[in-house]
Amino acid sequence: MSKGFPKNFLWGGATAANQCEGAYLTDGKGLSTADVMSAGNLERPREITNGVMEGKYYPSHVAVDHYNHFEEDIALFAEMGFKCYRLSINWTRIFPNGDDENPNEAGLKHYDQVFDTCKKYGIEPLVTISHFETPLGLLKYGSWENRKVIDFYMRYCEIIFKRYKGKVIYWLTFNEINVMSTKAWMAGGINSDDEQVRMIAAYHQFLASAKAVQLAHEIDPNNKVGMMYAGHFAYPNSCDPEDIQTNVDFMHKMLFYCDVKCRGYYPAYKLKEFERKGIILPIQDGDKEVLLKGKVDFLSYSYYLTHVVGKETSLEFKGLNGVKTGYKNPYLPTSEWGWAINPMGLRYSLNLLYDRYQIPLMIVENGLGAIDKVEEDGKIHDSYRIDYLREHLKEMKKAIEVDGVPVMGYTMWGPIDLISASTGEMEKRYGFIYVDVDDNGYGTFKRIKKDSFYWYKKVIESNGEDL
Ligand code: BG6
Repeated sequence: MSKGFPKNFLWGGATAANQCEGAYLTDGKGLSTADVMSAGNLERPREITNGVMEGKYYPSHVAVDHYNHFEEDIALFAEMGFKCYRLSINWTRIFPNGDDENPNEAGLKHYDQVFDTCKKYGIEPLVTISHFETPLGLLKYGSWENRKVIDFYMRYCEIIFKRYKGKVIYWLTFNEINVMSTKAWMAGGINSDDEQVRMIAAYHQFLASAKAVQLAHEIDPNNKVGMMYAGHFAYPNSCDPEDIQTNVDFMHKMLFYCDVKCRGYYPAYKLKEFERKGIILPIQDGDKEVLLKGKVDFLSYSYYLTHVVGKETSLEFKGLNGVKTGYKNPYLPTSEWGWAINPMGLRYSLNLLYDRYQIPLMIVENGLGAIDKVEEDGKIHDSYRIDYLREHLKEMKKAIEVDGVPVMGYTMWGPIDLISASTGEMEKRYGFIYVDVDDNGYGTFKRIKKDSFYWYKKVIESNGEDL
């Protein structure tokens, strides 16, 4: 019996351009949906403004200035022994307006340098093509509600697949594609709660994603293209059959995104729901074949927490991406941001998804957002983060060793502190590396290794044996 993590396991970390790069107009970059989201917190939601407004603070504009520090940051990742760095290409660095005829050479060059730096250290890049960074210039078309946007996305894909051929083989088409059902602005510049609009936008993203899978394979047969699911997993609130059914319905809302991407067609339960609600998709000839031919090579997802779902309740508990599920899980502790900490749920989710799709899986986000304190001696003792990660890794190991789930790798979220997507805060820190910058963008931007930095180094060195 093979024991432990596979030999070529992709250990590493994950970031998103808009949450770490800053330099929001440097080298010809255009504005994206992230650049018009103000800072917020748990009580005060982030505001989406009509363009950049003077006097307002937008965290993506500065972030942790990874754009200018990438060499130093990747060197630190290498020191921890990273085998893989998941990052996103900021679409607006390549096509500043989204619909430009020609790409921006300065933007392309930047990512050449990033990938070359990864290569220098033997780090495999895993690239998210679109991570909550839709060009604002595409709003005039109605963003993803308009089929035309598929062509703009494909133009972008073709450029980057060709340019980075040989440098990048792992790709993710859209970050957390199911966020279209929860936070549609982030998922694709859709500022509407209308379900028909969201479902049309999602349909266009499915088509774009399927086309991108095919194109990536054509351009380089070595390319492996995955989908990325926002890990919504729920338990029924009780064994009352009603709660069980409510949970099935909740999971269908989320899992249908995986069904389409991994199976290549809409599941029956979703088509029935569309029928009931009168939702009509703008299907054209040939679309079904596109979806079928563009099935993904692997399924990646983020895993932070689990929800509890059941009958209607007056309780208002908000889980991942602000989803209201009604209940807190009394068996689980929560993070300072109210997220239920559930390591066993990671094993549960790996089994659930592998049973359903039988394709390789990858955890591309997992981590603890917490307030870190720099001690007088300049150190950061983040034992809480180590505990969180250790317990999750133990459960992932069981899924591999005991259950036989093929897990390709693990890229922990935010190896270096970055801006929180949900709240726009800097103080919700995930990193192994602390960055001296505060919620208003002030600081020295100095990088400091936390205790967890040394712990993760040891984990990777021992290929997950020394947790
Ligand atoms: C995922 C996103 O939803 O969760 C990331 O892909 C995000 O972009 C991460 O940062 C953690 O969420 P938050 O809100 O704590 O940043």
